[in-house]
Amino acid sequence: MSNIYLEGNFAPVNEEVALPCTEIEGDIPNDLAGYFLRTGPNNQFEPIAPDLYHPFDGDGMIHQIEFANGAATYRNRWVRTPGFLREREEGKSIWGGFNTIGKIEAPPDMPMKNLSNTAMVVHAGKLLSTWEAGSPFEVGLPDLDTVGAQTFGGDWTEAVSAHPKVDPRTGELIVFCYSPAQQPYVRYGVVDAQGRLTHKTGIELPGAPVMVHDMAITKNHSLIFDMPVTFSIERIMNGGKAFDWEPENGTRIGILPRYGEGSETKWFDVDTGYIFHVFNAWEEGDEIVLDACRTVRTAILDTDVGQLDELNARMHRYRFNLTHGTVEEHRVDETPLEFSRINESRVGEKTRYGYASRFHPERGLLFGAMLKHDREGDRIDAIEMGPTQFNQEVVFAPRVGSTEEDDGYVVGFVHDEADDHTECWVVDARKFTDGPVARIRTPRRVPYGFHSHWAPA
Ligand SMILES: [Fe+2]
Repeated sequence: MSNIYLEGNFAPVNEEVALPCTEIEGDIPNDLAGYFLRTGPNNQFEPIAPDLYHPFDGDGMIHQIEFANGAATYRNRWVRTPGFLREREEGKSIWGGFNTIGKIEAPPDMPMKNLSNTAMVVHAGKLLSTWEAGSPFEVGLPDLDTVGAQTFGGDWTEAVSAHPKVDPRTGELIVFCYSPAQQPYVRYGVVDAQGRLTHKTGIELPGAPVMVHDMAITKNHSLIFDMPVTFSIERIMNGGKAFDWEPENGTRIGILPRYGEGSETKWFDVDTGYIFHVFNAWEEGDEIVLDACRTVRTAILDTDVGQLDELNARMHRYRFNLTHGTVEEHRVDETPLEFSRINESRVGEKTRYGYASRFHPERGLLFGAMLKHDREGDRIDAIEMGPTQFNQEVVFAPRVGSTEEDDGYVVGFVHDEADDHTECWVVDARKFTDGPVARIRTPRRVPYGFHSHWAPA
């Protein structure tokens, strides 16, 4: 194979295990109870065209650390989607990937393999594994068995984006998906706390169809990002990319009431850029505040990471005035960061703290520090990795019984390339710069991947 995303710690693992973690430095807190989860691409078979393999392409595998009574157990399982099971039956790769759209023929009865490799969310007591071009899959805890596709009672058979949002106050799940084929390019819905779809509408985008990765919610509104990674069939027919950076399409953020119709969306023109992930959004009077990770442009669709620095995201703040239709925006800090997270019991209301990772200056999609952001003074603290260590996305795990926003732990995987081993780090969020209180060596290597999640016990 000749592709950096199939080598080193990007290389997939092919064993599924459930093993206790026995090598621990420090002490695992007794009041940390639940599941730390990390998903990512882990192709089952060698790709049809390894040189065209894109880091988005691999079959989703979830790695889990279960915390209970000061001890930790590691498990990993693939998400068994129909495409995964069909390849398993045939013993080889059948589908191509992101870079081979229009180049490798797919089985007519299943034009796409749902990779279910991107992120996770817990809703209505169920863990859902997401992939933005298909249905989420319910995965059981603690065993990570695939239960099946989640269509909310059969009422939402379309895709659900990688990052639907749970409103912690109402238990609702706010979902959307995007279609490159026909208007409305964005479809939006609300699922109630019992898993029933209660609202659905289409949102017509003013320009071309675009790739939309994340969204934001407040108590009463939803924010949709129309940012210029466009889809073009014409480009594919001419041998070009399915998705490409096309700034002339405009950069807009649309805001609609949670139960609004697509036609009620108010569009705000913002500076040209792209948002992959948000920290949080909330209402302040007739204004909406949004903190997000924003790049001036994006090349994440390319595997060429040569110009990485200028393509790295920075923390960006928007203030939308719903009465006057105006927006103010500014870059908050120069630290290149991504994979922004908050205490998710505060989604949609004003938060003080955020957690993220700082890009490594030389290693593409990898991170060289865990970050904590304090909105009071916009201070960013860092836990630096060693020269051969790279951290993955960190999440916030509330301490059992906690009520304060910052009362909990920051948890994430760290891989050390010196001897190819992985650790799960647990940091006391309120003593962030003290570094980890526990470093738990995983019994098996955990390949680099995408999003992490915390599911309380
Ligand atoms: Fe994401």
